[in-house]
Amino acid sequence: MKRISLTQYLVEQQRDRGQIPPQLRLLIETVARACKRIAIAVNKGALGDVLGSADTENVQGEVQKKLDVIANEVLIEANVWGGHLAAMASEEMDTISLVPDRYPQGEYLLLFDPLDGSSNIDVNVSIGTIFSVLRKVTNHRGVDESDFMQPGRQQAAAGYCVYGPQSTLVLTVGDGVVMFTLDRETGSWVLTEDEVKIPADTKEFAINMSNMRHWDAPVKRYIDECLAGKEGPRGKDFNMRWIASMVADVHRILTRGGIFMYPWDKREPNKAGKLRLMYEANPMAFLVEQAGGAATNGRQRILDLPPEKLHERVAVVLGSRNEVERVTSYHHELD
Ligand code: AHG
Repeated sequence: MKRISLTQYLVEQQRDRGQIPPQLRLLIETVARACKRIAIAVNKGALGDVLGSADTENVQGEVQKKLDVIANEVLIEANVWGGHLAAMASEEMDTISLVPDRYPQGEYLLLFDPLDGSSNIDVNVSIGTIFSVLRKVTNHRGVDESDFMQPGRQQAAAGYCVYGPQSTLVLTVGDGVVMFTLDRETGSWVLTEDEVKIPADTKEFAINMSNMRHWDAPVKRYIDECLAGKEGPRGKDFNMRWIASMVADVHRILTRGGIFMYPWDKREPNKAGKLRLMYEANPMAFLVEQAGGAATNGRQRILDLPPEKLHERVAVVLGSRNEVERVTSYHHELD
């Protein structure tokens, strides 16, 4: 594999494979540039005065960290003037952010979770940015929330950047999954994996076990069987990992396989789960499917779910295909 830059990769994809229209290329480069700025802020930590709480709440009533607010601003400022966007939506904002009239309007809609895994910021554990790109497909003038109500299978691109020991940008434009590592000396994103594939089987699961008493029967059955190890019905021992940053957990799964679950639970029966469909589940499901894995809400393919509102929540089961299919079949057996 040639160690080329993100720019060269995107230009070659556009020129040789017709895979990336020019506006989409510009958008991805702009998001990558914003992620580089966020990576620099994350690295500075206490020295950059970016740790701790911002003393504000977001639309879901969660207390925002300083980095949540900084990352949100960086992404908006970087994207608003480029001419590639019709509007943006963020997990941290009540409603969509329009492109002001003084800038040209583009055809894409950008959605993002600017800083995923906020509880890990202050303890120096991996965090990330997740993004999803849709095309504005309606003909009406202007843009409103209804333009964003498209199932995840219509995403034109999706990706994330994980800020860990290295900063890694992971991307799909619907033609497989590629990874770029930030070279801090040159400031470039360099291609380091070009055919990311998730093995169909795994012996590793990721779930917040402290919620076990609140789970539904199919999830409990699956985890009980994993915990029973070699002596149980699965006939093998399983390992567990839970980072509490979806970005970092999904990154591990794209790197070596595994299953990630944030299921519906009885604590908040009226909510479908904790994670957000548009900012977290859809982009991660697109990446995971493009790497040969699977992603469901326990019953249906995530990418087929028709969203009803911007900040909608969803149960998430994703990763190694055979394990995701097993959890999904356990749900169907009990329906
Ligand atoms: P947040 O960014 O608000 O901290 O949420 C993180 C998400 C997701 O990244 C992670 O998998 C999950 O919440 C962790 O939730 P628990 O703290 O309930 O384990």
